[in-house]
Amino acid sequence: MQLPNLEKARKRSREETLTKTNDYIIKESLKELGLHKKYFVRTYGCQMNEHDSENIKAILEDMSFTETDSMEDADLILLNTCAIRENAHNKVFGMIGRIKHLKEAKPDIIAGICGCMAQEEVVVNEILEKYNWLDIVFGTHNIHNLPNILATSMKKKGLEVDVLSIEGDIIENIPSKRDSKYKAWVNIMYGCDKFCTYCIVPYTRGKQRSRKPEFILKEVEDLVHNGYKEVTLLGQNVNAYGKDLDIEYRMENLLEDVAKTGIERVRFVTSHPWDFTDEMISVIATYRNIMPYIHLPLQSGSNRILKLMGRRYTKETYLELFKKLKKALPYSSITTDIIVGFPGETEEDFQDTLDVVEECKYDSAFTFIFSPREGTPAAKMEDNVSLEVKNERLQRLNERVNFYSKQANDMYLGKTVPVLIEGYSEKQGDILMGYTDTMKLVNVVGDASYIGQIVDVEITDVKTWSMDGKIV
Ligand code: SAH
Ligand code: SF4
Ligand code: F3S
Repeated sequence: MQLPNLEKARKRSREETLTKTNDYIIKESLKELGLHKKYFVRTYGCQMNEHDSENIKAILEDMSFTETDSMEDADLILLNTCAIRENAHNKVFGMIGRIKHLKEAKPDIIAGICGCMAQEEVVVNEILEKYNWLDIVFGTHNIHNLPNILATSMKKKGLEVDVLSIEGDIIENIPSKRDSKYKAWVNIMYGCDKFCTYCIVPYTRGKQRSRKPEFILKEVEDLVHNGYKEVTLLGQNVNAYGKDLDIEYRMENLLEDVAKTGIERVRFVTSHPWDFTDEMISVIATYRNIMPYIHLPLQSGSNRILKLMGRRYTKETYLELFKKLKKALPYSSITTDIIVGFPGETEEDFQDTLDVVEECKYDSAFTFIFSPREGTPAAKMEDNVSLEVKNERLQRLNERVNFYSKQANDMYLGKTVPVLIEGYSEKQGDILMGYTDTMKLVNVVGDASYIGQIVDVEITDVKTWSMDGKIV
């Protein structure tokens, strides 16, 4: 049993990150552990977790488990969790309640949680106290060890907790069962060293570790070879890519080399405003296969709050970067994340945030109410803003954000734009869906033969969060 430890998770040393190319090993005796058994994985949180789930699924299939999309049918249930806000927690604990009922009826079910919540001391303590009928808990650093964790729990028929609070290595040989045949997530870095005062990620994901370029490029080349049309380069701060490598190779170099593989679409998330260089902007503007879409989290427009958040930019430098991007990439769409109700946020601070929204007229924005995360500095800051005021600010903010989303979408009406058709729409089964180069969701009339292709679509109707179109 290895329990998470917040103190250890906070530590950052100067030690070099190790790249391990054969740490994922699966013993012969475990290769059939899942024979005739079905697994169900539910994923919460960000793209990084989505991609981790693709790894987890591949590992389970290496052990002969087969996937089911019905939790009720499963012999193995895993929740890959997110710790970013309280409501993410609540969703998971709600689900654990449902699993308990299933396990009461079918005691042989193996149930576990993994991901960012598993890295939290408070969560694991709660599990040990109240949910110790669960079978496995493992964290973000030892996904490759899942076969052994599962085998240990099955052997001892009880809870096996295996969470490492370490800075982390890079394991290069974990397989992946990708959800899509057309677009793929590609990790370019793990962890985060920014330690924004509200954020739990640096504690749950370890230190910033950039993958060596040769591994990333090989992965993208293989994807191109296998017919993939789009890659999204993933990291908490992709602009800081390479800063921790011992070679002179940065995000602009990586973007350029990925673009040169010939993949039709290159995306990247998330860009921290702090590390956005002119060289990066120029590479994005030069290559037609680097998509004109930038997610540029603002968090707050108030310099006082930005300082308390530890974001290391000001309203002015943010706006300067925003304008530079729009000038170099006039056709691009720019989206953002905003937190309202940070401890002590005044009406004046909030007005500064609204000012930036009025000026940037974002294509869309994810907006959140501040959620205190245990162990982070902001959780201890004095907060005299009531939830009522926070809710009211969120509503006012959303009203402006939605106004500008609709306005940005209106510009597309009657235009013809390229869309990568991904499949059928979840809401309307006979309608196709896909995204423009600028990351706008489009519902398209058409038949299955278009799935996986980038087609020209004429936009016939626009709404706040999506558009309708027809293939031309
Ligand atoms: N690495 C990215 C953010 C990843 S987390 C960046 O730095 O921009 C995604 C978003 O969740 C953040 O941008 C922030 O807006 C929000 N978030 C993170 N911690 C939060 C908290 N404690 N309360 C509310 N929102 C939070
Ligand atoms: Fe969290 Fe800040 Fe790191 Fe983003 S940059 S993951 S908000 S600590
Ligand atoms: Fe959530 Fe962990 Fe991602 S906290 S947002 S799943 S890095």
